[in-house]
Amino acid sequence: MKIKKETKVQLKESEARYKSLVEKARIAILIDDKEGNLKYFNDRLCEIFGYEREELEGKTILTLVHPEDRETVIHLHRSRVSGNKVKSSYEFKGIKKDGTALFCEVDAVILREKKQVIGTCSYIRDITESKKDKIKLQDSLREKEVLLREVHHRVKNDMQVISSLLALQAANIEDEDIQEIFRESRGRIKTMAMVYEELYGSEELSKVDFSKYIDSLAHYLFQSFGIDSEKVVLKKDVKEIFLDINTAIPLGLLLNELISNSLKHSFLDKEKGEVRVTLVKAGDEQLKLIVSDNGVGVKNKIDLNKPGSFGLQLVKMLTEQLHGDMKIESNKETSFIITFKELKYSSRL
Ligand SMILES: Nc1ncnc2c1ncn2[C@@H]1O[C@H](COP(=O)(O)OP(=O)(O)OP(=O)(O)O)[C@@H](O)[C@H]1O
Ligand SMILES: [Mg+2]
Repeated sequence: MKIKKETKVQLKESEARYKSLVEKARIAILIDDKEGNLKYFNDRLCEIFGYEREELEGKTILTLVHPEDRETVIHLHRSRVSGNKVKSSYEFKGIKKDGTALFCEVDAVILREKKQVIGTCSYIRDITESKKDKIKLQDSLREKEVLLREVHHRVKNDMQVISSLLALQAANIEDEDIQEIFRESRGRIKTMAMVYEELYGSEELSKVDFSKYIDSLAHYLFQSFGIDSEKVVLKKDVKEIFLDINTAIPLGLLLNELISNSLKHSFLDKEKGEVRVTLVKAGDEQLKLIVSDNGVGVKNKIDLNKPGSFGLQLVKMLTEQLHGDMKIESNKETSFIITFKELKYSSRL
């Protein structure tokens, strides 16, 4: 077939344009045959791997691959030229002329001539620096995680020390009412310490598995009030929920007050009873906490705006801290219902 002279010139120009594009590219480009023999490569490839052009001529792609990754690269190359579907993009460990290793990212495509596979064309980037940065970042993250876990552990231990100091001091007090105040204060400290205990044991260091936390807190309260778990049972309606520490601490303290009240005031002469804790989503990022019991009920109406006693004053304060609302329902059951929004770390900034 005759090609017009003009078309020939255009073809030559177009070829020259593409050649210069490939040669000046900042990405390494190579063409190999079905056996992996290098057939063409640009200057960038020599630059990345530290070779002179002549040194690479007649070599195979394996010259550029670190011994550790040779098997994988050969396998991928063979599969690709045999027409199997293999990932076109992958990372491998390369090796420079001077023996230093480098990390490469490659995109490989199959090359055909007259519908026959003749080899592949690969585009290779040196990603050693970004890989090193990533490793450094991961190391530093791991280090910070260890530190944070340690901090949570220490906070918990410090709280235990405060609690023990209070116990020592209380041992010298004869007045039972004051003893009770000390005991309750220790209970509140323990409630907070348990949040930290949950935190340092958890995968995610900033979130508390609150359902698990409720179990531990209830177990502790039942024990410290000497409640027979055959007589009074805890029913929990809480799906798996992870809360930020800013919410977990006030919510834990709230639960401590409300469950303690049920255990302390509700089942005085009753044979059997039930304390129920519900924590559910209530739309628009709201959460609803309900603590109810089927005990004797509240004798005197409680004025939530002006609670006289310390426990409910604390409940009011903690509800405000969570920007929440509280109401009490008292019919067959006594229920404290608190609706609030989870406090995220950023909301404090
Ligand atoms: N679940 C409940 N069932 C029956 N009465 C309750 C319940 N919760 C609270 N009350 C009543 O409300 C009162 C106020 O509770 P509040 O927690 O403020 O005080 P407290 O438990 O007596 O002492 P503290 O300050 O140590 O908590 C209680 O004394 C009790 O009479
Ligand atoms: Mg109370």
